Amino acid sequence: MLSDSFYLVFVTAIVLSHRVETQVTFDGACPKLDVVGDFDLHRYLGLWYEIESYPAVFSSFASCTTANYSLLPDGNVRVINRSFNTSSKGFDMVDGTARLIEPLKRQAKLGVVFPATRFSRPVPDDGNYWVLDTDYTNYSIVWSCANFNDKSFQFLWHLNRRRQPSQSALAFVGHRIDSFGLERKFLQTAEQRNCPESSETSSMRPVRQPSPTRSSYYGK
Ligand SMILES: *[C@@H]1O[C@H](CO)[C@@H](O)[C@H](O)[C@H]1NC(C)=O
Ligand SMILES: *[C@@H]1O[C@H](CO)[C@@H](O)[C@H](O)[C@H]1NC(C)=O
Ligand SMILES: *[C@@H]1O[C@H](CO)[C@@H](O)[C@H](O)[C@H]1NC(C)=O
Ligand SMILES: *[C@@H]1O[C@H](CO)[C@@H](O)[C@H](O)[C@H]1NC(C)=O
Repeated sequence: MLSDSFYLVFVTAIVLSHRVETQVTFDGACPKLDVVGDFDLHRYLGLWYEIESYPAVFSSFASCTTANYSLLPDGNVRVINRSFNTSSKGFDMVDGTARLIEPLKRQAKLGVVFPATRFSRPVPDDGNYWVLDTDYTNYSIVWSCANFNDKSFQFLWHLNRRRQPSQSALAFVGHRIDSFGLERKFLQTAEQRNCPESSETSSMRPVRQPSPTRSSYYGK
């Protein structure tokens, strides 16, 4: 669904040092969307497979991408975002930190910080990670939007607890995305076939990001 304040203009490619990133850019400010209320962070933890997403990294060899959320001792969330590099045949990972932005409201608005690497820049600088919809046990629809002048940059992910959700599960999530008025046509299907077995201990060169300094909900 397109409205006056929310329509596609173009897909930009931004070259930043050694990285090429694409972003889906829309005319007008970020639409006002509701996130999951009474968000249960604990149920959200664990392993999610990336099923579809807006293009965030151009021309990478990433496949089998997963996000693993776990609690840090300070109550923030450790984000281990991994993918198999089909070129180097090894796993790449980014190790970041997420925190609830408005913990007392229990809204599913998180801020995610990743260290800058050549292959990680999935979200804009303030790293907003909004869970628009999730049932915790099957799917999550995550959206990120940043205003820039009179435009907005958007990212959208469909994460799933299954590496290969059924057609009906995919259709269900598609309808949910439509119901938010978001554009499905830019979604790219993530490669989740032929994924080698891996364990986190065998992963390469993890980089830890210091935890955000703001007080956390679970730390209180
Ligand atoms: C997720 O990360 C936690 C914390 O590092 C780890 O204990 C757990 O084994 C990971 N889960 C998977 C499925 O990789
Ligand atoms: C995958 O590996 C190739 C080298 O084989 C490298 O050029 C490329 O940047 C890697 N991709 C990612 C996403 O790290
Ligand atoms: C995880 O990181 C990869 C590589 O940076 C990115 O393609 C993917 O969108 C990220 N997924 C999530 C859920 O942050
Ligand atoms: C959602 O996940 C639960 C627990 O794994 C499962 O029992 C249920 O069938 C799933 N629902 C759908 C619609 O896939």
